[in-house]
Amino acid sequence: MSMLITGIRELVTCDDTVEETAGSPLTEGLGVIPDAAVVIGGGGEDAAPAVEWIGPADQAPDADWAIDLGGKAVLPGFVDSHSHLIFAGDRSAEFAARMTGQAYDGGGIAVTMEATREASDATLRALIQARVAEMRAQGTTTVEIKSGYGLDVEHEVRALRLAREVTTETTFLGAHVVPPDAREAGGRAAYLDLVCGEMLAACAPSARWIDVFCEPASPHAFDGEESRRVLEAGRDAGLGLRVHGNQLSHGPGVQLAVELGAASVDHCTFLSDEDVDALAGSSTVATLLPGVEFSTRQPYPDARRLIDAGVAVALATDCNPGTCNSSSMPLMIALAVREMGMTPAEALRAATVGGARALRRDDVGRIRVGQRADLAVVDAPSVLHIPYRVGVPIVRALEI
Ligand code: NIG
Ligand code: FE
Repeated sequence: MSMLITGIRELVTCDDTVEETAGSPLTEGLGVIPDAAVVIGGGGEDAAPAVEWIGPADQAPDADWAIDLGGKAVLPGFVDSHSHLIFAGDRSAEFAARMTGQAYDGGGIAVTMEATREASDATLRALIQARVAEMRAQGTTTVEIKSGYGLDVEHEVRALRLAREVTTETTFLGAHVVPPDAREAGGRAAYLDLVCGEMLAACAPSARWIDVFCEPASPHAFDGEESRRVLEAGRDAGLGLRVHGNQLSHGPGVQLAVELGAASVDHCTFLSDEDVDALAGSSTVATLLPGVEFSTRQPYPDARRLIDAGVAVALATDCNPGTCNSSSMPLMIALAVREMGMTPAEALRAATVGGARALRRDDVGRIRVGQRADLAVVDAPSVLHIPYRVGVPIVRALEI
């Protein structure tokens, strides 16, 4: 079965091979086809629907079904390459305290750990499904999900098992913080042994990635040498590498991520010139999470500096109960444009093809023949409305 979608005022492909005919400098780099149509085919039990044809609407072929969007913009579904969706509990009071001056140091992670361990599988599954649905309702079609609120073997394994039910992009984050019970039992060293040994072995079958909260400024997180050990153990277990780095201070996370060939180093709020140079000459994506700076009152990362240096940049939500309880990629785009010096076109690319690159995926993040038909629809004639109409729910994943 195939479906023809017409009434696309602006088709944003994010595909560099598409010849730009729209002629607007504001959308340059987005691979825009004006007054376009898309044909989607395939699907069924074992295959995701794929894009079969794209082009000007007046050249569109016939299909079994047709829908007319009536003049909307269409873009690739957002690729949210950094989230922590497996959690229970409520830390709104921590957010409120920060808004009146309290600093964030990662200590609240233990509060979420308690609530998450106590939640039943059914409760957690319902929470995850609701969050994924919330994301789709805002245009996200690919999401990476980390563990990291179980922090013992049983609950980290459970988190990844539940994450696997909704995404292939699962990340083992046993090295989120040293949990309070482990501090009493045997200290940091014993917990690191557990993370790099039994916990990793139990979690690796359900994980594609390993991540570590590399932050010497937090008493709860891990320093450079500890982080290196975690990442090397993960790599030896066959996992790809991701790093939480340079979030609260200028730490060693970025250099470590680049040295070890991590797919992405995330946050990148405090960077030296050497960090920027290292990223620019690497295959590691800098994933920026502006919702975190919004929710912690930190300075925003300098996206302009990174892009001008030639660094590949992604935008993601970091959706989590502590530093950013928002699943909204449109909000991240708006913040990136308003607060981080990105043009709308740069922010839209970072939220789509940039996220795909941060996950080392080339089947999502662009609209191209043969790729997954993960499309988002904007209730407006141009994608420029996404940052322009900030806070208004005008983007959704196209359900086909
Ligand atoms: O990416 N920095 C570490 N982890 C999360 C926050 C987790 C929490 O506070 O619950 C982050 O910001
Ligand atoms: Fe995070």
